[in-house]
Amino acid sequence: MTTIQQLGVLTGGGDCPGLNPVIRAVTRRAIQGGLRVIGIRNGWKGLIEADAIPLDLNAVSGILPKGGTILGTSRTNPFKHPQDIGRLLQTFTRLPLDALIAIGGEDTLGVAAKLVKQHNVKIVGVPKTIDNDLSMTDYTFGFDTAVNIAMEAIDRLHTTAESHHRIMVAEVMGRHAGWIATCAGIAGGADVILIPEEPIDIDAVCELIKKRHARGKDFSIVVVSEGAQLKAGKDVVTEKSRDDFGHVRLGGIGHLLGSLIEERTGFETRVTVLGYLQRGGSPTAFDRILGTRFGVKAVELVLAGRFGQMVSLRGNQIVDVSIEAGVGTLKTVDNDLYALAKVFFG
Ligand code: F6P
Repeated sequence: MTTIQQLGVLTGGGDCPGLNPVIRAVTRRAIQGGLRVIGIRNGWKGLIEADAIPLDLNAVSGILPKGGTILGTSRTNPFKHPQDIGRLLQTFTRLPLDALIAIGGEDTLGVAAKLVKQHNVKIVGVPKTIDNDLSMTDYTFGFDTAVNIAMEAIDRLHTTAESHHRIMVAEVMGRHAGWIATCAGIAGGADVILIPEEPIDIDAVCELIKKRHARGKDFSIVVVSEGAQLKAGKDVVTEKSRDDFGHVRLGGIGHLLGSLIEERTGFETRVTVLGYLQRGGSPTAFDRILGTRFGVKAVELVLAGRFGQMVSLRGNQIVDVSIEAGVGTLKTVDNDLYALAKVFFG
């Protein structure tokens, strides 16, 4: 077994509150373990282009409360162009890197799993996504912050909804899974929550709203995940552009829903798309602590030579699972939780 002297760390995919706490924890624990740390800029792109900076204690000082990632990020997929893999492996030898910690979601960790399997690269993964849709971990950091931002937005939307007797539609993030919509909706007291897991029955939605109004509540809050789709009728996913991993840019369901609700119920309706506000700003205490625990554990896995593994939260324990298993299936919203949310619909 080669001794690890120099450790790389990168962040890939969408930015997410909690990334900087992980970078800080990785750097501090690695230095404590006698390693040198190199920050790779902009995800896999930085490894292809050999864009890297040394990280020491001063470089990571003061970043704990900061949103985003000091290393920068990208949605670059090195497997898209075969020559990029060669360049990426060359950077490993040139820097040199003895091991790498890759912090990312399904796409970034999917690349990590392939690099481990096909090229024997020594990688430990750290799962990240505000969508909370990775199956092998109970939570990913960033999700708690996003839910709290969305909850606060729903609280604020209540003010205008009540004062103007309007329907307020709030579109939140959630590409494949409606965790943010469900949790923020429950916490914010939404009257209808619509998620990608269950196609939208527009007649049922309008019925719920009409019933609510009939009992004297002349305003309603509807929360919808950006990835939700109508059961029948128009498809709102417009093919504006695809990223390196083939994902289309989402957005638009909130506005379509708003106009259908107004048309069918006759109630004045307004739409708010929260978008990137949910990914910005300072992480909550929960996300700072989870990021810190993940970062420390990831270095410990490196020191123990447990490559191809990723850190994960199970109950209150930080454990490790294979990266391949971690990106194998998506974690969709728990049926029981959505059933609970439905108790408060209408
Ligand atoms: O994966 C997290 C996420 O926030 C999704 O909910 C969303 O669809 C996507 O990122 C958008 O990311 P970007 O526009 O930065 O590519």
